[in-house]
Amino acid sequence: MPRKKNFTLVRVIERALPDRLVSKARRAIARLGNERMRESYFTTFWLDEDARPENVIEEVVLALWKKHARVSNCAGMEWWIGRAYADRLPIEFHFDHDIKGRARRHPILSSVFFFNSVSGGQLAVTDQTPGVVEAERLETVKPRRNRYAIFAGNLFHGVLGGAKGRLRVTLVVNYWDRRPTGVPTWRESGAYRAL
Ligand SMILES: [Fe+2]
Repeated sequence: MPRKKNFTLVRVIERALPDRLVSKARRAIARLGNERMRESYFTTFWLDEDARPENVIEEVVLALWKKHARVSNCAGMEWWIGRAYADRLPIEFHFDHDIKGRARRHPILSSVFFFNSVSGGQLAVTDQTPGVVEAERLETVKPRRNRYAIFAGNLFHGVLGGAKGRLRVTLVVNYWDRRPTGVPTWRESGAYRAL
C-alpha cells in the first residue's frame, strides 16, 4: 500500500515550557558534571503517569506530557538526558523499542526537548517503520532552546552529525502503554542524585 506523503512526521512546538522551568532544569543538568556523560543515552528512567515528580527533570517530563503529548493509553514515560557533541554522537539511526524485552515493542510516541541551540546535531525522523525496507521521507529539527519535537514511536530516526561545537543537551521522553522491561525509576536507579 502506498504511504501517505502529505502529513508531517514531526510535530515541533516552540516555547514549549515556561522559561523559568527550562532554566531550573538546565541548572540541574549542569550539576551532574561528567556523571555518566558517555552513557547518557543509555541511562534511562521510568516515571509512572500518575507519579509525583522527584526532581526538576521529572517536573519537566510531566509538564511536557500534560501540555503537549496527552495520549489516552499512556502508562508512563521513559526519560533520559542526552548529552553529546555533534562530532561524536553515541547513537546510530534506530527504532526506539523495549530493549530488554522479549517482544519487540515500540513507544506510542517518542519526543525530544532541546535545551540549547547547536550547529549540526539535528534530529532526523524518517517515515520508515519496522518491516518497511526503506525510508521515502525525512524531516529534520534543529536544536534550539525550549523547542519540543514529537513523533510516532515506531519511526526510524537519528541525529545528524556536525562540527564539535557546543555540548548538545536534550531531554528525551518516550511515552509507553506499558513500562519497558528493566527500566528503573530515578529513585531506584541511584544515578544522577545531583538533580
Ligand atoms: Fe531514539
